[in-house]
Amino acid sequence: MKKILTGIQSTGTPHLGNILGVIIPSIKIANHSNFSSFIFVADLHSLTQVKDVKKIRDNTYKVVAAWLAFGLNTEKSILYRQSDVAAEVTELAWYFNCFFPYKRLTLSHSFKKEKKKNNHFKMNVGLFTYPILMAADILLYNAEIIPVGKDQLQHIEIARRIASRFNQKIGKKLFVLPNPFLQKEIGSYVPGTDGKKMSKSKKNCINIFSSDDTLKKQIMSIHTDNKSLKDKKNPDQDFVMSLYRLVASINEVDEMREKYIKGGYGYLEAKIALYECIIRRFSVEREKFFFLIKNKSLLDRILYLGAKKAKNIACERLNFIRKNFNFSPY
Ligand code: ADP
Ligand code: TRP
Repeated sequence: MKKILTGIQSTGTPHLGNILGVIIPSIKIANHSNFSSFIFVADLHSLTQVKDVKKIRDNTYKVVAAWLAFGLNTEKSILYRQSDVAAEVTELAWYFNCFFPYKRLTLSHSFKKEKKKNNHFKMNVGLFTYPILMAADILLYNAEIIPVGKDQLQHIEIARRIASRFNQKIGKKLFVLPNPFLQKEIGSYVPGTDGKKMSKSKKNCINIFSSDDTLKKQIMSIHTDNKSLKDKKNPDQDFVMSLYRLVASINEVDEMREKYIKGGYGYLEAKIALYECIIRRFSVEREKFFFLIKNKSLLDRILYLGAKKAKNIACERLNFIRKNFNFSPY
């Protein structure tokens, strides 16, 4: 049976980008196919950015609540925390570390970006070896389909290279080569309030799981040009419209397009329409999320069950990998 797997870091509350780019499409496959699915909170990865362990724990609950709010069926899918399989995934990552060329890892986009932002002395090694741990997340379960945003493509490519290197070394097809699964409808990425990729690390998120007031403020802060209310506007070069297109129905989008082209329709009205549309479209999920986040014992129970299932499979697979790699201490 084919496996799908994806992870979201516990660096904050999942935003509209995570939701449209990964959560909704993954749930569609996970709930309605014969694939077995592994959905996890990448809390070990988030330690590369967040050093406050309590924050990581709180964010972990938020990520889990978001998956459940959107209807992930945990009878069918395994929803777990990466640190609950820490022993298995980090052991595998270590083997990969020892077989992957250092130089190749220095070419990773995410590493180069971090290197630009930080100075060498402040940057932690975890940021460098990040893709190796990600490869271990995937290859530990032999997952084939990996729903991710475009920014993760290179990481999947690294996982593929590691898999084929290992297979070659061992002379067996021990690992299947994973394939990314992109949500094409959203384009390259869901834009944030500044038009750049929406990201938890930037202050450009639209967070549907925040209060009505905060959500409204975030939407009101979307950058626009300085055309006045009466001016005609370009619907194809505007961030409010770009976001509206991702959440509204075709008819609603057509109506807004016409208003832009005609003139006499201001960005304030467009933002209010976007806000109302988001509240309408996600009302059920928001309610579920707010309920779950107040009922942590339910989330703990789900995580406990997920950990047991994931750990069993991970242990079995790791033993099998060790044997084939002739590195079995047992
Ligand atoms: P962030 O980039 O906000 O810190 P994560 O790194 O935890 O979020 O990303 C989790 C998943 O969501 C990844 O597969 C990532 O590619 C995807 N993702 C993040 N932001 C966006 C976005 N703006 N549009 C589409 N997908 C996104
Ligand atoms: N690197 C991913 C991100 O930042 C999170 C992640 C960790 C992941 N391990 C993974 C995603 C394995 C897919 C598969 O979004």
